[in-house]
Amino acid sequence: MELAIVGAGHVGLTTGACLADIGHQVFCSDCDIHKLNMLRAGQMPFFEPHLASIIARNSVVGRLQFTSTEEAVDRARAVFICVGTPPLENGEADLSAIEHLARLIAQRARGYRLVIEKSTVPVQTGRQLQRHLALYNSNGLECEIVSSPEFLREGSAVEDFFHPDRIVIGVESPRAAQEMQQIYAPLLDQTFVCPVHKVCPPDPRDPSDSGGRKPPLLVTDINSAELVKHASNSFLAMKISFINLIADLCEATGADIAKVAEGIGLDRRIGPAFLQPGIGFGGFCFPKDLQSFVRIAEKFGCDFSLLRETEKVNLQRVGRFVEKVRQELWVLRGKKIAVWGLAFKPDTDDVRYAPSVRIVQRLLAEGAEVRAYDPQASANARCQIPELVCCSDPYAAARGAEAILLLTEWEEFREVDWARVRDIVERPLVVDGRNFLSRENLASQGFRYVDVGRSLLERREASLHSNSQ
Ligand code: UGA
Repeated sequence: MELAIVGAGHVGLTTGACLADIGHQVFCSDCDIHKLNMLRAGQMPFFEPHLASIIARNSVVGRLQFTSTEEAVDRARAVFICVGTPPLENGEADLSAIEHLARLIAQRARGYRLVIEKSTVPVQTGRQLQRHLALYNSNGLECEIVSSPEFLREGSAVEDFFHPDRIVIGVESPRAAQEMQQIYAPLLDQTFVCPVHKVCPPDPRDPSDSGGRKPPLLVTDINSAELVKHASNSFLAMKISFINLIADLCEATGADIAKVAEGIGLDRRIGPAFLQPGIGFGGFCFPKDLQSFVRIAEKFGCDFSLLRETEKVNLQRVGRFVEKVRQELWVLRGKKIAVWGLAFKPDTDDVRYAPSVRIVQRLLAEGAEVRAYDPQASANARCQIPELVCCSDPYAAARGAEAILLLTEWEEFREVDWARVRDIVERPLVVDGRNFLSRENLASQGFRYVDVGRSLLERREASLHSNSQ
């Protein structure tokens, strides 16, 4: 099918490239001409594993074309709205880009078209979209709105596209449902060569799965599909804030958060995912989606203070972490501190709403000398903190440091040569904001290791124990 993707951000570009990869003809547009030209020249506007090769492969054969929005809308039977919905000052989502696009579609498109919401939008956006399209319809457009929320995670977006947990489509007619099933048919039937694994791997969460698991399809009304997306992100955010609160209590009482999280997660009704404590959630989705969801609920008279608390707990993580560093170093002013990891999570170069950025800003404001290293996100971090000194490897950042703070759990930090680090730091102290490193390994290399959710007493005992072995 001929498809338009409007908005070449993380969602749009991944969705467009992968839809081309499963056989559709995709016209992808963006209002940022510089970005479009980069993509036409084969350059990536951001880092996402596997995506560059999928774009290259499909661009060469012409199945993926980067065009103007006008051309994309003219040529496609289905238009995927993937434009940004950034937060307004009051926390509501800014829908102006969607409104603008709706007007353009209404004024240009003719005949039967699907207009598909992929961007995360407040419930009842579909209804507004429908009204707006009808208002500006000047060419006999016969348009159906669909909500098809995406559940792609940055860093594993390609994998998530090809092996989704579920496909949700919100429609108003059987015809729209049928068209959507046609678009997603290769995913629903798992009939494609997976660009990540080549052969579909078994789902690790499902012992009965031998690979190529067909994702469940949930067909709903539009409002419900819109709500599924906001509710899913909010629930996951809530899980993270919950485990962070439990981590605080573990620190205060001498319990071990790793064991507590394991014990909770073994309950199949809860599950082990998203119970990793640390410096809190970031990125361009959870923080803004939570705020926007709370605002919508308030508008409809529902008390979502549960989610307000979720946000509050998350914001407090940064302060708690900085206090932890202060407890170790006493005075921050003038201290050399190495920061390992700036991205809001591994396998991405995205630093939007990253807790690591806020931690670095706090340290700099207090007069610490921060030297940072991130495998992908340094350039983006420097856009937010121009004075930040970024290094080309973790050792350069650690030279002369009185503390190493691990803020993003990049796999490469597991491979660090700790004996080498021991020789170049001023003081062997690691404060791990992600509970990523091995406490035993670091203790055996002579490091003091401070993590999240274990009491100081516990840590001291563990260190003594490992030293005596
Ligand atoms: C999230 C959702 O997971 C996707 O399903 C959704 O499609 C996407 O938002 C979106 O709305 O577009 P993403 O923001 O890429 O995806 O990242 P996540 O993997 O969900 O992580 C979000 C944050 O939570 C990160 O800062 C991560 O470090 C943190 N996190 C995650 C924790 O602190 N603890 C955990 O146990 C898990």
